[in-house]
Amino acid sequence: MIRSSKDELDYGRTYVPAGPRVRGRASRPVVTIRAMDTHRAETNPHRATAPFPPGPGLYGDAALEMLLAEGVTWGDSARWLPVLPAESVDLWFTSPPYADARAYSRIHPDRYVEWFLPYGKDMLAATKGTGWLVLNIKNRVANGGPLRGQRHPYVYQLVIALQQQGWRWLETYIWCKPNAVPGRYGPRTKDAFEYVYAFAKGPRPHFDLDAIRVPYRTAADEIERRKQDRLGRRNTDAGFGRDRTRTYLLGGADPGNVVSVPQTYNQYKGAGGHTAAMPEGLAEFFIKACSPAGGVILDPFAGSGTTAVVACRLGRRAGGLEIHRPFVSAALDRLRHSGDAAPDGQPVLIQVAR
Ligand SMILES: C[S@@+](CC[C@H](N)C(=O)[O-])C[C@H]1O[C@@H](n2cnc3c(N)ncnc32)[C@H](O)[C@@H]1O
Repeated sequence: MIRSSKDELDYGRTYVPAGPRVRGRASRPVVTIRAMDTHRAETNPHRATAPFPPGPGLYGDAALEMLLAEGVTWGDSARWLPVLPAESVDLWFTSPPYADARAYSRIHPDRYVEWFLPYGKDMLAATKGTGWLVLNIKNRVANGGPLRGQRHPYVYQLVIALQQQGWRWLETYIWCKPNAVPGRYGPRTKDAFEYVYAFAKGPRPHFDLDAIRVPYRTAADEIERRKQDRLGRRNTDAGFGRDRTRTYLLGGADPGNVVSVPQTYNQYKGAGGHTAAMPEGLAEFFIKACSPAGGVILDPFAGSGTTAVVACRLGRRAGGLEIHRPFVSAALDRLRHSGDAAPDGQPVLIQVAR
């Protein structure tokens, strides 16, 4: 998720410290769950106009089929995920709202794990044995409390909690942002990466490395020379060497777990004004690798619909849930116009070098 504005979003099922507030600070650390718009009404009545989305009203396969038919649905994932059929989803690819340490709204990092775990549980139940939860998330600097000024550990706490919940933590990817925005970040450099955590449900998840291979960096004549190498594997003093005769028969190189995608790479900037849209290239990488053709992909925090747009373009069946209605309208508009090609005509990021 890219946060470019500080005050653009409120999120559903937000934990709000109970009790009176003094200039936005919770006066006591008791935690209750309150609905987002109730909270907004308390803190800023002028903004409390958005109605709640309706509940699913459907159950099991019918609920899933509706999400897939609509593309992006106006709904609260807290209510939709529990009604989805068991073992039905190939991939959840999502960027949930990140923690915000400001106590008057959103999800405080101290309570982020508690907020997220019910979603994790429902997603686990609805995931196929070969399926994945792939989570784009970013840590933050604590702006209060004993950790003030330090990196808050909520991301790591979440990863461990999800693993304990039953998700198999298979990989940590780094989304590298070569064009990260400069700013004032205290005694540290600018944020130039985010995490993408890949959790599988079972021991044999679908994984198509060939779909994300990138062109070899080695010069073409050197590749040809090595293909002729008849000596095969060479052992060195350091241990086993690679069988160099086979290295270049795979059609492309393993891209590695650092995925470099500029923030602006096909990043949606349409009407609806979602300021946290992820670049399409990021979704493309994980959808290609972690879901089969025709597979079912859902994004429970759909925002501007990036996951659904890219998944449909790649021949998957996709749906998303978004709690804010204006974003839903924008996402649907985007889905309608996304067609088969990237919107700005840029080449696809992941080039399959066969
Ligand atoms: C980081 S944004 C997702 C951005 C998205 N990846 C994109 O490319 O546009 C998270 C989204 O989750 C939505 N959201 C938060 N809580 C939700 C809930 N309980 N159900 C559905 N959507 C929710 C927020 O309104 C926000 O748009």
